[in-house]
Amino acid sequence: MPGATMGLSRETLALNGGLVIDPSTKAIAPNVSMSVNNVLTPGDGAFSADGVDDLTALPFLYARWTNPTVRQLEQRLAALEATDDAVATATGVAAIGATFLTFLKKGDHLIVSDVCYAGANELARRILPDYGIEVTPVNMSRTEEVAAAFQPNTRLVHCESPCNPILRLTDLAAIAGVARRHGALMSVDSTLATPVATQPLTLGADLVIHSLTKFINGHGDTLGGVVCGRKELVEKIRSRAGVYLGASMPAMNAWLILRGIDTLFPRMRAISDSATKIATFLQGHPAVAAVAYPGLPSHPQHNLAKCQMDLFGGVLTFQVKDPATMARKLAAHLKVAHYAFSLGHQRSIVVLLDTQEMMKSTYGLTGEQLADYRRFAGDGVFRLSVGLEATDDLIADLDQAINA
Ligand SMILES: Cc1ncc(COP(=O)(O)O)c(C=O)c1O
Repeated sequence: MPGATMGLSRETLALNGGLVIDPSTKAIAPNVSMSVNNVLTPGDGAFSADGVDDLTALPFLYARWTNPTVRQLEQRLAALEATDDAVATATGVAAIGATFLTFLKKGDHLIVSDVCYAGANELARRILPDYGIEVTPVNMSRTEEVAAAFQPNTRLVHCESPCNPILRLTDLAAIAGVARRHGALMSVDSTLATPVATQPLTLGADLVIHSLTKFINGHGDTLGGVVCGRKELVEKIRSRAGVYLGASMPAMNAWLILRGIDTLFPRMRAISDSATKIATFLQGHPAVAAVAYPGLPSHPQHNLAKCQMDLFGGVLTFQVKDPATMARKLAAHLKVAHYAFSLGHQRSIVVLLDTQEMMKSTYGLTGEQLADYRRFAGDGVFRLSVGLEATDDLIADLDQAINA
């Protein structure tokens, strides 16, 4: 199998990892295998001599577990994250939910980043307690506070780096060390970093999660999620999530995402380069009060970014004096970028995330945690997800819309 050879660079694995050339047609593009189930034949584990069937020995049984196209995607993502297994899910949220519901049960304790993707934060804080799971939100950039939050029943620490939407970083190796000392697992949502920038498993995390909907597919035309990690952990997720939660990835989505990953490295390099130039431009713009981007020396954790990110990614934020008026101006006047939610597409997207609204709808932070949020986000940030348009066109577009 191409990509199985040890020692290939990740850039090559993005093209060849998990790729299976169909033996009958020798087609160079992956097949889209639409079949839901597979024929059972004597000798394949379904019919054992002692009458005990071992269905887990079959490579493919039923598409809710996995299917041949989805499996190619899972193996490619495992290769990119330098591990041996991955389970794909219908969405990024399904990957997060499957992780929580596999490794946490009644009486267990979760430490979750006080700021992370809204869906993950709300699931942790609002839903898990209904099932008897204790949840403590912590600012993951303060390693000592994470260490202090551990309880004897802490089973999982979940973080993001950079975190959506304020782009604060977590020292992944430090938190992994703390989690390991307490015998807890650590999951990292690495959607904003992508495997091109950061490989959390090599820094000591146990599980890495991506919303494939974002940069990894990169074209804004399919949902998807994945959890990558050691086989024994991934198998646990697959056997709970695949069998009982049912949020499996459809084959066509896997095919689209495989095609997206083919160009992940050159896309992320171009996007990151462009984001650096746009962040620098915005920092010097008289109407812009603050810019956050891990690649800017002004980012409070720029040194950490240089240590754990190979490039600085495609998302930056900026603040202005009167965000509500600016939001209307951007929505009305942008001609190249779009004013819209989500991120990680081939086209640039910008949206206002108002701090008060975010507190009401999602985070509910108070005291020091709110002050920490405001240090990165003030009254609100415009989150700009940079696409593949010419950088000069994007800068000119932002400039004319900001000045309109
Ligand atoms: C960091 C992060 N994780 C997870 C998700 C959820 O992904 P999906 O929309 O694919 O469920 C998002 C979506 O915005 C995200 O930004």
